[in-house]
Amino acid sequence: MNPPLASPSSSTAPLSRFLDRRGFLRTAAFTGGAIHLVTSKTAIAQQTAAGRTIKCALIGCGAQGNALRIASKDVPGVQWVAICDIWKFSWARMQSAMQSENKHQVDGKVVVYENPEEMLEKQPDIEAVFIAAPDFLHAPLSRLCLSKGKQVYCEKMMSNSIEGGRDMVRAGKEFGHVFQIGHQRHSNPRYINFRENILKKNRLMGRVTHCYAQWNRGVSGSQPQGEVKGFPLEESVLAKYGYNNFFEFRNWRFFAKYGGGPLSDLGAHQIDMFNWMFESKPVSVIASGGVDYYDGKDGRPKFELPDNMMCLYEYNTPDGVLRCYYQVLTTSGSQGAYEKYMGIQASGIISEDEKRGNQLYGEPGSDFAEFTTGDNPIIKAPPPKNKFWEQDRDWEKPKPPSYTKIGLADVRESKALTQYELGAVNLRAAHSPHVQNFIEAVQMKKPEHLTCPVEMAFESCVTVLKAYEAAQTGNKYIFKPEDFAA
Ligand SMILES: NC(=O)c1ccc[n+]([C@@H]2O[C@H](COP(=O)([O-])OP(=O)(O)OC[C@H]3O[C@@H](n4cnc5c(N)ncnc54)[C@H](O)[C@@H]3O)[C@@H](O)[C@H]2O)c1
Repeated sequence: MNPPLASPSSSTAPLSRFLDRRGFLRTAAFTGGAIHLVTSKTAIAQQTAAGRTIKCALIGCGAQGNALRIASKDVPGVQWVAICDIWKFSWARMQSAMQSENKHQVDGKVVVYENPEEMLEKQPDIEAVFIAAPDFLHAPLSRLCLSKGKQVYCEKMMSNSIEGGRDMVRAGKEFGHVFQIGHQRHSNPRYINFRENILKKNRLMGRVTHCYAQWNRGVSGSQPQGEVKGFPLEESVLAKYGYNNFFEFRNWRFFAKYGGGPLSDLGAHQIDMFNWMFESKPVSVIASGGVDYYDGKDGRPKFELPDNMMCLYEYNTPDGVLRCYYQVLTTSGSQGAYEKYMGIQASGIISEDEKRGNQLYGEPGSDFAEFTTGDNPIIKAPPPKNKFWEQDRDWEKPKPPSYTKIGLADVRESKALTQYELGAVNLRAAHSPHVQNFIEAVQMKKPEHLTCPVEMAFESCVTVLKAYEAAQTGNKYIFKPEDFAA
């Protein structure tokens, strides 16, 4: 047997004893080779101490509004009573879906509004508002809702400007309600297991020196959104709500007036993970990127914000310097989206898509034998898969003839790492645990219960948006303490 890991906080206790029970009540676990779903209505009901029904409203009924609706279906206590959107295509589908899901309720009506102020005025019984409108609206809508005494769940990126984000932190302090930002990884049991048990408590990776995260989307996944037959939107309505035209309304993410580009749209999740995993803020960033593909040439649409970005952040952690690389592409879907943490004893790959990542790769000499049992064990996975994947593959296939012994010796790779699968999984909709965390905080009237309060999200907002400054100047941006101050 290999020697035990040299780790300041390593312990002989099985992993299961270290688990945050609260976090894992809502997860499934491998036990004795079988998967046991421990998510149950009973378990959830026990969680929601107050158990009250919360009357909820949704502002912004597009793709993410719909994801929140779906996520809320297995969160006890959510009752949708009102929605707000400026486009019939979005609100008509949402109203019909919500009302059919409300069928069992005495009054399952969901009222539609175009104007959020009118909604809040006419339905004072609304207790919580979910905001899933484009990013430039997050700050004013959050302030409006908080000022009317509502509890708020606002989607990420919290704003397309640092000043907008700062105003949200201030509004949070001013009105003192429950105010959650939609970085849903903070509530995902797999991510919690990774941070609390693999990375921190048991230090199974040892000192982590580098992180790598990417979100690669191919052209087919980044196509511009166009008109929808039968659902026009008049120019006067667009102008009233601040949109220059329908193309910008539909593709708001790629224009600075409304959004923050793919870096903020997707990096908001993954760069946030660098900060959250290490409970740290970066000291510097260098970055490069541009509008290299969606440039209006050869029939391609013209976007304003960079369609690709590559960023290198530097952190000072108690273990030493940590360098984190982030990449977002809209021209290649190669290897999809995942985050990777590289330590001297093991590397961990994790992704919201479990097929992409929920593994630990042990360096030679690493041994996780004592963690193979319990609720969320670490299971050796024969044969190793996903070493460097486009799709799952068996890495141990016979090597092609060109791989001679001499050839292998010449490349001088270190010995292959041993793959383990991590037992903590999330079998619910990706956003359910985060929505539930918010609803529990509302039910208990406890902002401190939140896994992503506005102050925490603001640090990620600054971390992400400052990369643009570095890319524009071509210089390394050195973060100042006041950058993170609200
Ligand atoms: N947490 C996540 O994983 C995740 C995923 C996708 C999007 N998001 C976030 O959710 C938000 C919405 O993104 P999306 O993908 O649903 O965009 P979308 O374009 O699909 O939907 C936006 C909706 O907002 C509506 N809208 C626009 N202006 C409005 C206004 N003034 N008042 C009311 N409604 C208005 C639009 O009509 C549309 O229905 C963004 O902040 C985005 O960053 C989060």
